[in-house]
Amino acid sequence: MLIAVVKETLEGEARVAMVPELVGKLTEAGYDVAVEPEAGSAAQYSDTAYVESGATVDAVLSSADVVLSVQPLSSPQARRLRSGAATFSFLPPAQSLDLVAERRDLQITSFAMELVPRISRAQSMDALSSQALVAGYRCAIVAAGRLRRFFPLNMTAAGTVPPAEVVVLGAGVAGLQAIATAKRLGAVVRAYDVRAAAAEEIRSLGAVAIELDLESLEGAGGYAREMTEDRAARQRDLLTPYIAAADALITTAAVPGRQAPMLVTADMVEQMKAGSVVVDLAAETGGNVEGSVAGSVVQVGAAQIWGASNVPSQMPGPASKLYAQNLVNIVTLMTTEEGFAPDFDDEIVAGTCVTHAGQVTHKPTHETLEGRP
Ligand code: NAI
Repeated sequence: MLIAVVKETLEGEARVAMVPELVGKLTEAGYDVAVEPEAGSAAQYSDTAYVESGATVDAVLSSADVVLSVQPLSSPQARRLRSGAATFSFLPPAQSLDLVAERRDLQITSFAMELVPRISRAQSMDALSSQALVAGYRCAIVAAGRLRRFFPLNMTAAGTVPPAEVVVLGAGVAGLQAIATAKRLGAVVRAYDVRAAAAEEIRSLGAVAIELDLESLEGAGGYAREMTEDRAARQRDLLTPYIAAADALITTAAVPGRQAPMLVTADMVEQMKAGSVVVDLAAETGGNVEGSVAGSVVQVGAAQIWGASNVPSQMPGPASKLYAQNLVNIVTLMTTEEGFAPDFDDEIVAGTCVTHAGQVTHKPTHETLEGRP
C-alpha cells in the first residue's frame, strides 16, 4: 500500500505532513512512502533525507492509497486521486463545504485532523494540541522580541530593571504554552480564562490567575462556551485595568465552531503604555482584539498589535515533526495486517471521518450540505 506525502501549495504554508525521521514508522507498518519533490524543503527537510530514510521522491497522487498533507488537498489535487483513496489533513468542514461535497462525489475517504476526539486514547493524534503548543510558544517569543524592554528582572550595580508585565487571555493549550514561555523568560504573568479549571493550570505554571466576579463558561469536551454580549461587556470592563498595566498582551481565546470572542476593544488598547505589544493569536478567526489584522502589525494608540497568521508554519520544522507524529499514530490505529483498514466503529475513526464511500459521515456537515439549495 502506498502513502503519498504532498508538497503543500497554500501560500505561506511551510510545514510538511511527514518528516524523514518518522518515515521508518510507516515502512515498518508495511507501507511504501512516496514524497513529492521538495515537499519538505520549506521546513528544512531535504529530498535526500527522505530517500535515506526509506521513502521515494516522486509525484504519485494518482496511485496512492493514503495521502498525507497539512492543508486540505485542492480540488485539482483531489480529482487526481483514485476512488477509495484516503486523505489525512486539516479540513475544517464548516469552511470547506465545496471540497467536502466534491470528495463525497469522488468517493474519497477524508479524515479531518481537527475532528480527532479529545479523549485520552487520542491524545497522541491530537494535531490541534500539537500545533497550538507551537503557536503558543511562538506568540510569547514574538511578544518578547517586539517589546523594546527586558522580560526578566535585572538587578545590577547600575540599578534595577523591573520585569515586564504580561497578560495572557485564554489559557488553553496555546495560552498555557505562552504563559510557560513568558515565565521562563522572567516576566510577571497574569492570565484569565472563562473555564474555572484553567485557574489551577495557570497557577501551576507560576503565573497569577486573574479572578473576575463572573460565572465560568465550561462547554462540552473541555472547551469554553460562547459568552452573552452582556457578559462579554462585563468581562471587558473588569479586564481593562489589567490590560492597561500590561507591557505585553497575548490573546489566544477561542470557542469551537464560532468566531473568536472579542475580548479587547481598541479603547482598551489605547489605555496601554507607550511601546506596549499585543499579540492576537485569534486574528485569523475574527480576532480577540479589535483592529488586529492577520499577518500584519497595526498601531493602535501607543501600542502595536501583531495579528497572527498560520503561526505553527512560522516554526515549520518542529511543527511538522509533531504533526507527522500525530499522523503516524492515527494511520497506525487504522492499519491491520491487511494494510490500511479503518474500523468505522472505532470512536476515533468515526469522529475524525468527514467523507467515506460516497457519503458525508460528519453529521453537522452532512446536514448543512443537505440544507443547501
Ligand atoms: P481553544 O483553542 O478552543 O480555546 C483556547 C482557550 O480560550 C480555551 O482555554 C477557552 O476556555 C478560552 N476562552 C474561550 N472564550 C474565552 C473568553 N471569552 N475569555 C477568556 N478565555 C476564553 O481550546 P484548546 O486550547 O484547544 O483546549 C481547551 C481545553 O480543552 C484544554 O485546556 C483542555 O482542558 C482540553 N483539552 C483536552 C484534550 C484531551 O483530552 N485530549 C486535549 C487538548 C485540550
